[in-house]
Amino acid sequence: MATSCVIGLLWGDEGKGKIIDLLAQDADYVVRCAGGHNAGHTIISPAGKLVLHLVPSGAFRDHVVNVIGSGVVVDPWHLEQEVARLREVGAPVELGRSLLVSERAQVILPVHRAMDQVAEHMRGGGRIGTTGRGIGPAYADRASRSGIRMGDLLRPAHLADAVARSFAEKAPLLAAHDVEVPDAAAVAEELAGLGERLAAGIADTGDLLRAAERDGRRILLEGAQGVLLDVDHGTYPYCTSSSSSTAGCAVGTGLPPAALSSVTGVVKAYATRVGEGPFPSELFDSEGDALRDAGNEYGSTTGRPRRCGWFDAVAVRYSVDVSGTREVFLTNLDVLRGFRPLRVASAYELPDGTRIERFPAFELDQLRPVYEEFDGFDEDVTGARTWQDLPAAARGFVEAIEARIGAAIPMVSVGPGRDEVVRR
Ligand code: IMP
Repeated sequence: MATSCVIGLLWGDEGKGKIIDLLAQDADYVVRCAGGHNAGHTIISPAGKLVLHLVPSGAFRDHVVNVIGSGVVVDPWHLEQEVARLREVGAPVELGRSLLVSERAQVILPVHRAMDQVAEHMRGGGRIGTTGRGIGPAYADRASRSGIRMGDLLRPAHLADAVARSFAEKAPLLAAHDVEVPDAAAVAEELAGLGERLAAGIADTGDLLRAAERDGRRILLEGAQGVLLDVDHGTYPYCTSSSSSTAGCAVGTGLPPAALSSVTGVVKAYATRVGEGPFPSELFDSEGDALRDAGNEYGSTTGRPRRCGWFDAVAVRYSVDVSGTREVFLTNLDVLRGFRPLRVASAYELPDGTRIERFPAFELDQLRPVYEEFDGFDEDVTGARTWQDLPAAARGFVEAIEARIGAAIPMVSVGPGRDEVVRR
């Protein structure tokens, strides 16, 4: 494994939690690099089904040190609650031992959540459909150098001033939208209290990870969201505010980019998106509803129904390319049982009829997918563990995808459980 990463290849919700939980059995460190508690990584643990938002998906592996890296935006109130919830169900999560948070990670303040709502309101019809958790405004403060970092929570002497400045900057805009500005002094006091309670886990994780890498320890970097939500390479402006592709793994940990030895991409056997923005292979008919029902496609963070559509080989080829993925873990193949025919978008048609096979940066909403059709299968594949256990039509579909995305598919997930995996 050395240092490897797992990246979502579309707009998030690809099933990364399951593969990270699986790979974590061979890891010493599992590290979140970007995003915040907008993520929802579902794992089926010994304690049942659980959704992790901020704590890395190695949470249920006793030997793993879970690290929240410097590129993550941390809501410390949420972090404290998530840790408590995990401990309640028996996860071996202990600040300072099995869970560390970078002192450089930016803090999400209540005022960021308020700004997230106002920004969405101001966008009107062009709203992004954010998770409303303050992610974008926290990253904006990082870029404008007015953010507060987790290490500041341990320095209460200047915390009150920093919080007051941050709130004062935003107060006029919030007031103009009749949004109440939280009391800065009270928030600073709460943060100082959180600092005391979280202190054991706040550390220079960049130093720690670089030393671990030099010592040959196995580091698994857990991507959040997906390549098409990346602020630079995704479907801007309908994206998140961090670097959610492979490059963000270096930015968000302090590891040198050359340390990364392999990239595993994760993508479903069909496509989904939550929130607004272009989605060329989206289905608007009963087949889309049927996919949503079969895959239980509701957002794990916000509960919103996910938009569903066919596998988009053009988009995935692009994200395989951008992320440097060589191996793809294809998830939710079992969900396609009974759908006939199966479809894959292998090109797009522009409004003037021109056919393109690349994923463009603009006018994505005007693209018409060009589909290829494949035989469907009626068998329940959840019991399959070897390639030969899969029906011929399911194997043919996986091979067709593989041929079109430019990466190998060595593993296919056929159900939510840890062991419901076909290895080729
Ligand atoms: P934000 O990250 O809350 O600012 O939301 C920006 C966009 O990214 C919205 O369309 C969200 O629905 C989407 N998004 C953010 N995080 C996730 C995720 O973990 N899975 C799926 N979509 C996400």
